[in-house]
Amino acid sequence: MTDRYAVVGNPVAHSRSPAIHARFARQTGQDIEYGRLLAPLDGFGDTVATFRRDGGCGLNVTLPFKLEAWTLATSRTPRAEAAGAVNTLRFDGDAIVGDNTDGAGLVRDIEQRLRVTLAGRSVLMLGAGGAARGALLPLLQAGVARLAIANRSADKARALVADMRSVVGGERGSGEGRPIDGIRPIEPGRLSAVDFADLAPGYDVIINATSTGLQSTELPVPAGVLARALLAYDMFYAAAPTAFMRQAERAGCARAADGLGMLIEQAAESFLLWRGVRPDTAEVYAALRAELTADSH
Ligand code: ATR
Repeated sequence: MTDRYAVVGNPVAHSRSPAIHARFARQTGQDIEYGRLLAPLDGFGDTVATFRRDGGCGLNVTLPFKLEAWTLATSRTPRAEAAGAVNTLRFDGDAIVGDNTDGAGLVRDIEQRLRVTLAGRSVLMLGAGGAARGALLPLLQAGVARLAIANRSADKARALVADMRSVVGGERGSGEGRPIDGIRPIEPGRLSAVDFADLAPGYDVIINATSTGLQSTELPVPAGVLARALLAYDMFYAAAPTAFMRQAERAGCARAADGLGMLIEQAAESFLLWRGVRPDTAEVYAALRAELTADSH
């Protein structure tokens, strides 16, 4: 019997996940079906329960349900625990395993496709919401030397840093005051908050994790900071270069990328969790980029 998967969200019609997973399945010869599930805003749990009862094997979870998915999971991977959000569910008998593949997807896209090694680098994260939070542990695990977070509401960046320091330092866990299993302590001092007003050159990689993607407003990052970076990475993606990419390029940054590769890599991580096979993402990236460009004409 064909194993069934889907992406659940609200809205979900725009999701490219079905197209990505269909390509992964063809490429790896896995017999799966992958659809879209629109859950009512107050009906996430029921939607998941019905899908599971009908034999569904796993789900990707998108906005606005990533926190509810975290609560629903009966066990969570360390990276989901640290992210405080779940984007992948796997149904294992009575168990619901919750994972978060977003940060790993970002790291893989930067290191494998863009060929920028993260170990020893200085990284600046713009934004302190869910998207930023999900990337912190994977970036630290990739060996970045320094990870600074700048956010419009500076207090939120400081709160995120304090929280994540206790997680990666092994001081705070999933409850009962024990460290999260599977997270090896990382020196918490590698992580800091920085005010936009105090930003100075010296970052190798600058990542936009704010939700400003569609707006054309510039982020308050000095041109000199962008000019010195090897890579400006926008988690948002579009057919044309995003506003942040254009800002970085105007400032003289050597290289700018959008988040299409991250989307594909996080999907590949989910596919790996479900099927035990890692798809080759390069050909899927090329196909999706071509489709995105064609759709915009
Ligand atoms: P997500 O889950 O996508 O991270 P979120 O949790 O709502 O969404 O977080 C949105 C992030 O984008 C926040 O860091 C937010 O900054 P504030 O905490 O100051 O609100 C940031 N953001 C949104 N609009 C912005 C803007 N116009 N300029 C700068 N930052 C912005």
